[in-house]
Amino acid sequence: MDVKNLTERYIAHTYKRQPLTLVKGRGMFVWDSRGKRYLDFVGGIAVCSLGHCHPALVKAISAQAKKLMHVSNLYHIQPQAELAALLAQVTPRGIDKFFFCNSGAEAIEGAFKLAVKHTKRQRIVTMEESFHGRTAATVGATWKASYREPFEALIPKIFDFVPFNDLTSAERVIGEQTAAVIVEPIQGEGGVNVPSENYLPGLRKLCDEHGALLICDEVQTGMGRTGKWFACEHWGVAPDEITMAKALGGGFPIGCLGAKAEIMDSFSPGDHASTFGGNPLACAAAKAVIQTMKKLKLPQRATKIGGYFKKRLNELAGKHMCVREVRGRGLLLAAELSSKQIADAAVVKARERGFLINCTADKVLRFVPPLIVERRHIDSLVEALDKILGEVEK
Ligand SMILES: Cc1ncc(COP(=O)(O)O)c(C=O)c1O
Repeated sequence: MDVKNLTERYIAHTYKRQPLTLVKGRGMFVWDSRGKRYLDFVGGIAVCSLGHCHPALVKAISAQAKKLMHVSNLYHIQPQAELAALLAQVTPRGIDKFFFCNSGAEAIEGAFKLAVKHTKRQRIVTMEESFHGRTAATVGATWKASYREPFEALIPKIFDFVPFNDLTSAERVIGEQTAAVIVEPIQGEGGVNVPSENYLPGLRKLCDEHGALLICDEVQTGMGRTGKWFACEHWGVAPDEITMAKALGGGFPIGCLGAKAEIMDSFSPGDHASTFGGNPLACAAAKAVIQTMKKLKLPQRATKIGGYFKKRLNELAGKHMCVREVRGRGLLLAAELSSKQIADAAVVKARERGFLINCTADKVLRFVPPLIVERRHIDSLVEALDKILGEVEK
């Protein structure tokens, strides 16, 4: 049986997959099973920030695999302790203790547990258009009704939704029962929504006034993607808790909850755990990612090259009626098109021409390439999109 048939026969049908089996990657490129090459502007959805199979990451994983892959958090783990110390250098001020896990959703589950334990309060304020994951609590904090409703029985009834980028509504809801407010500094899956200048500082102030914790979900925006190590830094906001995953391991699965020490210290042995969390292999990978990002100054690079990319996308918007808006920061960019039909057709046509792009929130083309992307890659994508949009808007 070929891969497509095996997948249909043996894998849960939870993903709408494109008719493509990717078998190899290097830098900005991936290859399918027929040998066709694609320029990758998806990067495993904001994961492969160093590009595919970066030599420093491959070397670190191989060396650690030969030495020690897994023990348990029953023991001290050298790469885990070293990774935490490195993270303390790059996370927003005040974030200086970490809990390691395996995914974004798991990091957020930990963030909720910590907030409830620390504040002894019961409710969490979350945003419309948000995405926080697919486990029972994180899908409960996620806006899209179709993700939540079939599982209503499993979802804790603790979430208060308020419109994103609306401080008046937040002020109405945040109160003395609010353990935490969770927010993506820039909403990713919701369509790359960038808030106004006063929004995050305003949320920080409201949390302080009501004794609630501010959780920044930086699973998608973190690790340099938007031009700062963490997107909340664009607004000078220091959260009480921060969640990371995706790009942290550069493709190796790892998630992390960071918090202020006095908050993280509300956890005692037995309160929270994860068998694979912070295992030597995952932590060696994440250490190599951070060290390489620092060496290549990738956050600064994301600002510079992202600015160029945005300018080129705005040129397309000036030329094509179907492009309604270009938005985003650094290398988390989007072009909102006029319809889902047009956006879907653009993704297919781009693939046929050898470009991987992604569509989110129905009609928003989202670009989250590796942070090593160069101008020539952007130019060739923009040139292709120019032709594609000309075709699809007819
Ligand atoms: C902002 C945000 N939070 C959480 C998640 C969930 O992460 P994971 O799929 O690793 O559980 C995602 C995934 O897209 C995300 O974008």
